[in-house]
Amino acid sequence: MSSSSKFIFPLNFRWGAATAAYQIEGAWNEDGKGESIWDRFSHTPGKIANGDTGDVACDHYHRVGEDVELMRELGIRNYRFSISWSRVMPSGRGVLNKKGIEFYDRLIDELLESGIEPFITLYHWDMPQALQDMGGWLNRDVGKYFADYAAAMVKRYGDRVKNWTTINEPWVVAHLGYRTGEMAPGVKDEKQCYQVFHNLFVAHGLALRAMREAHSDIQCGIVLILFPTEAASNSAQDAAAAEYGWHKDSGWQLDPILKAVYPTDIWNALGSFAPQVEPGDMALISQQLDFLGVNYYFRAVVSAEKGRLEEIPGACYTDMGWEVHADSLRQLLERINREYKLPPLYITENGAAYKDEKTNDGRIHDAQRIHYIRDHLLAAHEAIQNGVDLRGYFCWSLLDNFEWAYGYSKRFGLVHVDYGTQERTPKDSARWYSRVIRRNGLDEVLSLKAPMLV
Ligand code: FCB
Repeated sequence: MSSSSKFIFPLNFRWGAATAAYQIEGAWNEDGKGESIWDRFSHTPGKIANGDTGDVACDHYHRVGEDVELMRELGIRNYRFSISWSRVMPSGRGVLNKKGIEFYDRLIDELLESGIEPFITLYHWDMPQALQDMGGWLNRDVGKYFADYAAAMVKRYGDRVKNWTTINEPWVVAHLGYRTGEMAPGVKDEKQCYQVFHNLFVAHGLALRAMREAHSDIQCGIVLILFPTEAASNSAQDAAAAEYGWHKDSGWQLDPILKAVYPTDIWNALGSFAPQVEPGDMALISQQLDFLGVNYYFRAVVSAEKGRLEEIPGACYTDMGWEVHADSLRQLLERINREYKLPPLYITENGAAYKDEKTNDGRIHDAQRIHYIRDHLLAAHEAIQNGVDLRGYFCWSLLDNFEWAYGYSKRFGLVHVDYGTQERTPKDSARWYSRVIRRNGLDEVLSLKAPMLV
């Protein structure tokens, strides 16, 4: 292999960008859309930084044509987005909302006309409020309604959309929605957290079954956020603490999905907080996946004495305060490849928030983001060389958007959004990423001198 082709990805590697409905669409109460828990949460004073809401967000609902055109210009070939459940089913079940359905018809058709492959996420955190009022994920019936909704979407769009994921990051829904309360619905109750976590997996299983019955010709998966965990020192105590941390956060997701069990050490430690599991649940949860989506942002470094370290000496951090550590992505992919029988993988999210500013030339010179993506792509490439069946990479995010409890204060986009005018401006990282896509990887120039080139 010549040195200039060193970082070229496999043929048909899928290059993409990702978004989520509540973070970009706006139009929160238009055309018959029902209220979601994120509408309710963001309208509750004190929940979101600066009192921001997703009422308008990137106004994508009204700018869908422009946004698809932008992707086409940037050469983005795959687009991961989510359907707002309450836009297509205002009360979460029953009748479909025609205008909501037509919105996604239009998005899908425009993507396909532009040669962009759609990847749909069915649940990216915006539970219809009407179902939350019935107990949300704590109520097992809601899992059945989720499966009905999933099947309805597959029936409607499955002729055109082949890639489907059920739930985005059950870990975040459970821990941040139900334990720390920093995300909707804002509950702080550890017992509920673990029951919701389990019920999400059951809902995923019910949906998988219903989707496959609705359409045989689709690929189905789930998206998990995983946290590679390292020991703070060589001591046996720190190693044990790191292993425990891995089981608690990542094993708790991977084991039920891929091995039909929960990690025993964590189950025992949970005591009365362990979830109620009904007969048949584990088989439902562990049905074969067509792919697994992995979201990776940061690792955890753990010591027996201090738990997860807040500051790691010499580390670099993004504007979220998340440590930048690309090699952990390689380690993560290689570890799960060793320890589990995996379906094909996608990195369904990876990216960084930085304090981007427009300079006098009207551009956004986000060299740090380029470095971040480059280093993670190199790590992913190395994992592929080492035998990981990684099929694609989706950058988070296409656009700057509503970053949940942080509101608009954190910018993750390849494309800058001026929230006053809704003007979109591709950042240097967007131009750089489009060259990576065109070359199907990083040649020496793009990988080593990236920021100077754009
Ligand atoms: C992930 C979420 C996504 C976005 C990124 C930064 O956990 O799935 O919506 O907020 O973090």
